[in-house]
Amino acid sequence: MSEKSKISNPRTLTGLQPSGRLHLGNYFASIKQMVDAQNAGEELFLFIANYHALTSVSEGAKLKESTYEAAAAFLSLGIDPEKSTFWVQSDVKEVLELYWILSGYTPMGLLERAHAYKDKVAKGFESKHDLFSYPVLMAADILLYDATSVPVGKDQIQHVEIARDIALKFNNAHGEILTLPSARISENVAIVPGTDGAKMSKSYGNTIDIFSSPKEQKKQIGSIVTTSEPLEVPKQWQNCNVYNIAKLFLNEAGQKALQARYERGGEGHGHFKMYLGELVSEYFGQAREKYAELLADKKKLDEILAYGAQKAQKIASEKMRLIRESVGIYR
Ligand code: ADP
Ligand code: TRP
Repeated sequence: MSEKSKISNPRTLTGLQPSGRLHLGNYFASIKQMVDAQNAGEELFLFIANYHALTSVSEGAKLKESTYEAAAAFLSLGIDPEKSTFWVQSDVKEVLELYWILSGYTPMGLLERAHAYKDKVAKGFESKHDLFSYPVLMAADILLYDATSVPVGKDQIQHVEIARDIALKFNNAHGEILTLPSARISENVAIVPGTDGAKMSKSYGNTIDIFSSPKEQKKQIGSIVTTSEPLEVPKQWQNCNVYNIAKLFLNEAGQKALQARYERGGEGHGHFKMYLGELVSEYFGQAREKYAELLADKKKLDEILAYGAQKAQKIASEKMRLIRESVGIYR
């Protein structure tokens, strides 16, 4: 099969699940990369995938609140609604229309092979149609906006490949209407270690969360696993979990200075944890203030999201017009 693809401008798009608290791993490996790309002038499309979240959240009030929380989090961490297009998935209904149209170009086998679906079912989740057809909605998210590059975690690469396969099938039938996307994973981003040294992850309970209360944050930092030696002896920074997290916040000179404190002796891990606490507070202080402000002013938050939805809607309407025309949905 030929892979002719329309020549189009590069466009980066990704969806963010509104579930769960954001931690340092999410920030340094994913959010910061997006904010840096945005500030370097890349055209970024980011949305909160609240339709996808329905597959795992059944309580309405909870989904509503976590959608607001996710919006406040990304805005306060540097997503700029002027530079980027930032919206909530359900604000642009065209995505559901495209989801249905694309279903006609999605072989069952393609979905049956999806790891995410198989893993969920193997873990005992009820086998339901929303979980099964999740990749088709994700394809609609990507193809509706002509995204060329889709930054995702490793677990989502297959879904982007499914979107590409669906686009190819559609284009074979109707001509070069849809843009073929590729997944983008930042290979050079290091894995952020958690409080026990393993990969920081919600599912391991080893996170340091960005927007938790100061008390909770202190507790999380306090729980970092360290060796125990007398105060005065020189200490190894090389394999120290506290050091490995602290270095994320430090430039080279800062890292050298902290290494020297370890090597000098006279300080215990309690001191280094205290220092890490200060680094975290300093780095995220402003974001935390803005987050609280936004969550306390839902009207303002709604306005920002409506503005983003309007920008996304414009592109979606034009694209859907072409797609409807090509399949013969004329009214
Ligand atoms: P979790 O493991 O806590 O459920 P997610 O799967 O929601 O995290 O991660 C969202 C994004 O952040 C993904 O792109 C993932 O690759 C990245 N990420 C999360 N935790 C880490 C980590 N500890 N190190 C590197 N990247 C991470
Ligand atoms: N499935 C993605 C996740 O769980 C979220 C998502 C939904 C997404 N639609 C998308 C990501 C489109 C990239 C592009 O992380």
